[in-house]
Amino acid sequence: MSRGDGVRDGVLDKGAAPHLAGIPVHVGIIMDGNGRWATARNLPRVEGHRRGVEALRRCVRAAREIGIRYLTIYSFSSENWSRPVGEVSELLGLLRRFLRHDLAELHSANVRVRIIGQRASLARDLCLLLDEAEALTRDNTGLTLVVAFNYGSRQEIADAAAKLAADAVAGLVKPEDITPDLLESRLSTAGIPDPDLIIRTSGEQRLSNFLLWQAAYAELVFLPIYWPEFDHAALLSAVQEYARRDRRFGGVAARTGS
Ligand code: IPE
Ligand code: IPE
Ligand code: MG
Repeated sequence: MSRGDGVRDGVLDKGAAPHLAGIPVHVGIIMDGNGRWATARNLPRVEGHRRGVEALRRCVRAAREIGIRYLTIYSFSSENWSRPVGEVSELLGLLRRFLRHDLAELHSANVRVRIIGQRASLARDLCLLLDEAEALTRDNTGLTLVVAFNYGSRQEIADAAAKLAADAVAGLVKPEDITPDLLESRLSTAGIPDPDLIIRTSGEQRLSNFLLWQAAYAELVFLPIYWPEFDHAALLSAVQEYARRDRRFGGVAARTGS
């Protein structure tokens, strides 16, 4: 997917910035810094997570306004289970509340919700909620909101490899026919274009097991703010930084679209 596609496909909602060339089609966000935001204010870490949900609402609205087509948010990693039990249950509760309270509004805003990450180990009521969010919004044609929950990229790639291995054992695919495209078709993000831009808040500069395969040529922008502070201006600043980047994809000249 190129920058040109983003401009052509991006139906700019009211409040968009039409002067912006090179709107990324797919933006991934590592929503980091909730705990530090709270600690800096002498509040419990969970308060940072609660305020983080408000930032997420602002972010989804801003993404629609700017004309982004796919927004993938990293909301809980497969490594986050190592946190204190109370914090983990607060994070699970926040996802439940977000989906319960916001699903109708997301649906009426024509947002299509997709969830990636392992579901088998999640509570049954949460799984049903995730299924419901996807089923209700399946045919929506606006922003696709991909929620990465209990997600880890290495596990995702290992799962894709296991599916191909099973197909090989069943005689459906020959090992020599395995290509990057074939492996990609077995990832949980199959059918979703690669992220053009990955934003991480909080000042940390790492991917923490987020979209490792898909981010091969993503532009990375690290914002020096904590996630609860994220707003339209922050997203716009990252998109503007992206628009200034020269993406070469291994070639020698900047792509100009198409
Ligand atoms: C991001 O904020 C939320 C999740 C990882 C679920 P953190 O909780 O990681 O906040 P910091 O990084 O400790 O400040
Ligand atoms: C990454 O943040 C995971 C999410 C934002 C959901 P972490 O706070 O868990 O990452 P590390 O531990 O700083 O690498
Ligand atoms: Mg963190």
